[in-house]
Amino acid sequence: MSDRSKSDGDRTQAPLGRRPAEVVANQASGGYRIVSGLDRLGPDPQAGQFYMLASERGWGEGAARPYLPRAFSVAGAERGAAGAEGVRLDFLLEDVGPGTGRLARLEPGERLLLTGPLGRPFSTPREVDPEAAGAILIGGGIGIAPLAVLRDALAAAGVPTRTLLGFRDEAHTGGIELFRCSEVGLASEDGHVGHRGYVTDLLAQVLEGDQAGTAVVYSCGPPAMLEAVRGLCAARGIACELAMESPMACGFGACFGCAVPLAAGGYIRLCVDGPVVRGDRLETALVAGAGHR
Ligand SMILES: Cc1cc2nc3c(=O)[nH]c(=O)nc-3n(C[C@H](O)[C@H](O)[C@H](O)COP(=O)(O)OP(=O)(O)OC[C@H]3O[C@@H](n4cnc5c(N)ncnc54)[C@H](O)[C@@H]3O)c2cc1C
Ligand code: FES
Repeated sequence: MSDRSKSDGDRTQAPLGRRPAEVVANQASGGYRIVSGLDRLGPDPQAGQFYMLASERGWGEGAARPYLPRAFSVAGAERGAAGAEGVRLDFLLEDVGPGTGRLARLEPGERLLLTGPLGRPFSTPREVDPEAAGAILIGGGIGIAPLAVLRDALAAAGVPTRTLLGFRDEAHTGGIELFRCSEVGLASEDGHVGHRGYVTDLLAQVLEGDQAGTAVVYSCGPPAMLEAVRGLCAARGIACELAMESPMACGFGACFGCAVPLAAGGYIRLCVDGPVVRGDRLETALVAGAGHR
């Protein structure tokens, strides 16, 4: 198994400074919202990268919250969508506080202020393991966002991919349509959709299958889920990459607010050394306060 993951040279770098992007859509998706902005000036993001977002209006006014921009994984990216110049960026949002609440109320024609794409993206299966023949994606709740754009990239590269998505209950379910494929394994804790129980139950079943040993597992979701994924993969010697969403104040390495411990000692800052991290590098994926339930 290779220890290679995306290096600084491999990742898409953000242009300096914040830039405006026109909101072109804001639609409900189950209990979440999909907010889309047209980024005329930025590069195409890679799957697993994120943006720091704020609204041009109604943000930090009178020093009220929200003040700092908030971090969001890119859930979809399409250059030249509907003939427009630039990249249409889709973000899947859960309204949990003042920042996400303001973004969830954006109307078409308003402007987002964005910095990005930031962070280390997902690696290809072959970059993680030269023998890898496929990919297994496992997402939980709002953490399914970066897996949608990863699935698009893997499909374009012809990589066989299994997708497993889990949700807590109906109010915390959405974004499934971002996965433009029919074969998605679903689980919910309340049983309203798919298997009643955790999505990691489905992963355990898939990992018992014949081909699982040659797949790389990619995951994003609440810390308890990521830790379960890390444990299941470690027990079977299967490589995994985890996208971790600890709270971020700056998003570009300055504040050290996103540091997590490594198994070999020391720390990484998730905004510059992550958010995508190889599972075997981590001491634990149970980072206090990180990831929605
Ligand atoms: C790399 C990255 C990618 C992310 N991608 C998405 C995404 O695609 N969609 C999405 O809806 N959210 C995403 N988040 C989380 C999002 O940034 C937070 O939900 C947001 O900052 C909350 O801001 P707020 O002002 O609405 O709420 P706050 O008032 O800041 O917080 C409200 C509640 O959420 C908790 N919270 C705040 N920030 C986080 C966080 N980062 N992780 C977990 N809990 C938090 C707080 O403890 C509090 O209970 C991502 C975070 C990171 C770091
Ligand atoms: S968010 Fe500031 S260093 Fe990572």
